[in-house]
Amino acid sequence: MSPKLSGKVVLISGGAGGAGRAASLRFAAEGASVGIVDIQRHAGEQLVQEIKDTGGSAFFVEADVSKAADVENAVKQIIDHYERIDILFNHAGTLIVKPFLETTEEDWDRLMDINAKSMFLMSKAVLPGMIAAGKGVVINTSSISAFTAAPMESLYCVTKGAVAQLTRAIAVEFRDAGIRCNAIAPGFIRTPHGLREIKECSALGVEFTEADMAKSQGRFCEPEEVASVALFLASDDASFINGASIDVDNTCTAAT
Ligand SMILES: NC(=O)c1ccc[n+]([C@@H]2O[C@H](COP(=O)([O-])OP(=O)(O)OC[C@H]3O[C@@H](n4cnc5c(N)ncnc54)[C@H](O)[C@@H]3O)[C@@H](O)[C@H]2O)c1
Repeated sequence: MSPKLSGKVVLISGGAGGAGRAASLRFAAEGASVGIVDIQRHAGEQLVQEIKDTGGSAFFVEADVSKAADVENAVKQIIDHYERIDILFNHAGTLIVKPFLETTEEDWDRLMDINAKSMFLMSKAVLPGMIAAGKGVVINTSSISAFTAAPMESLYCVTKGAVAQLTRAIAVEFRDAGIRCNAIAPGFIRTPHGLREIKECSALGVEFTEADMAKSQGRFCEPEEVASVALFLASDDASFINGASIDVDNTCTAAT
């Protein structure tokens, strides 16, 4: 089979770790040139080498995607390196686990900045090039927490709700410019983020045992299972999917 992303340039935020790393590897294996944007310099540089060693093309930029100057610089560096960006995968994000009444204004600002403002900033920086080209794809990592709520995760749920709506808003505003924008809404993924979430929730009395995992989503989602959905949405196989959110949760949301 021919590679699905031959000749395409992809920017993946949070592309050095977790499911973002799996996507960087998968997209490169499908022929894309991959611009990896992350706060983890060492992991990012190692991953670029790993991709190059297997014959792929990758380029790393260290950036905190919650900061406008970092985002603008990262996008400029990737365009300088690869000439354009065809696909933007906004994946970077994090989690604060806290009782609602202990959640501070600083927590709100920080999590909104990392999880939601980052995608606004990235999209603003990348969309003009896509509009000029008359085509482009944006993929945003949301979560089942955009649609279902959990104790100790109020802020996280709010940020992912914002991502779900940003996705629809971009899709609607830029459909006629040839741009598709969709979200991925995973359940628990076996990544540092997913493992920390379970540990910190359990420490606050919201137990999530193996039996709970089996009941809600059968088993852990593997990072590669998120990457393959991102690949599908990035490819022309998803040419008529726009403004959608795809649950990657093995019935977790369907059963609630
Ligand atoms: N793991 C889960 O269970 C789960 C479930 C649903 C959604 N998600 C979402 O997936 C995304 C990432 O999760 P993951 O599981 O791959 O996590 P992860 O923690 O393993 O990886 C996140 C990556 O993003 C990077 N990152 C974090 N903050 C950043 C910033 N400010 N600027 C640049 N890079 C930054 C990290 O360095 C890391 O490489 C997040 O948007 C998260 O909300 C995760």
